[in-house]
Amino acid sequence: MKKQAIGIFDSGLGGLTILQAVRHTLPHEDLIYFGDSANVPYGSKSKQTVTRFSLDIARFLEEQGVKLIIVACNTASALALTQLRKQCHVPVLGVLEPGALKAAQTTRNGKVAVLGTEATVKSEAYPKAILKYRPRTNIIQQACALFVPLVEENWANTPATRLVAQTYLAPVIRHRCDTVILGCTHYPVLKKVIADILGPKVQLVDSAETLAQAAQEFLYTHHQQATTGRGKLTVYASDDPARFKRLASCLLADDIGTVRLKKLNA
Ligand code: DGL
Repeated sequence: MKKQAIGIFDSGLGGLTILQAVRHTLPHEDLIYFGDSANVPYGSKSKQTVTRFSLDIARFLEEQGVKLIIVACNTASALALTQLRKQCHVPVLGVLEPGALKAAQTTRNGKVAVLGTEATVKSEAYPKAILKYRPRTNIIQQACALFVPLVEENWANTPATRLVAQTYLAPVIRHRCDTVILGCTHYPVLKKVIADILGPKVQLVDSAETLAQAAQEFLYTHHQQATTGRGKLTVYASDDPARFKRLASCLLADDIGTVRLKKLNA
């Protein structure tokens, strides 16, 4: 079991921020990453569609013999986690719970903001999870639809992104939230600009770091953690692997090696 790989999936590239964090936290683990580049974005799709895509990917990862599936995509975690857990034969970790727990533990004034895709915000999954850990938390949500394309265009450090971020973050400042969940795979790439606008007193909860820690804890507790050798990484994309690889190198410092094409049945 220890030698089996961990499967990680996302709607596309964004989950590479989580892959990177998992790779650093669990350097001995073999990892299989699946980016559903044929179907991205999930953030504007229905629960039914996102669940169908997620189940197809999970099935593929199970066929590869993974010991654990990490749902790196916030939207898939918000919409499809229950079905994934019901239908998968291996444990499934979502990105949402660890982020919600961290936010509940971090806030001092009880005011938390959740930034996410339209579908994640609409699902109310983050508020529900936060309130479970910290009842009576004051939570506001902000859908940030433009953040994903800005990151994918490699525009993170441009004045346009700053202007968009200032607009999205105005309610967070107005409500005096002291903790902000970066509830989408792409938002850690915008951490610097978000932190700059919100100032040093506001804590950003980066789902990549919290999920990597949760995965480590899970494997450790279940005696499934690989402890020797350098982990191998295999990356699949469901469309245009060359484009995926090119954009990945803009997003990440790490090299992800060859990207293989794997089309889904959906
Ligand atoms: N991966 C998605 C998420 O974390 C963002 C991109 C998309 O909309 O598919 O919510």
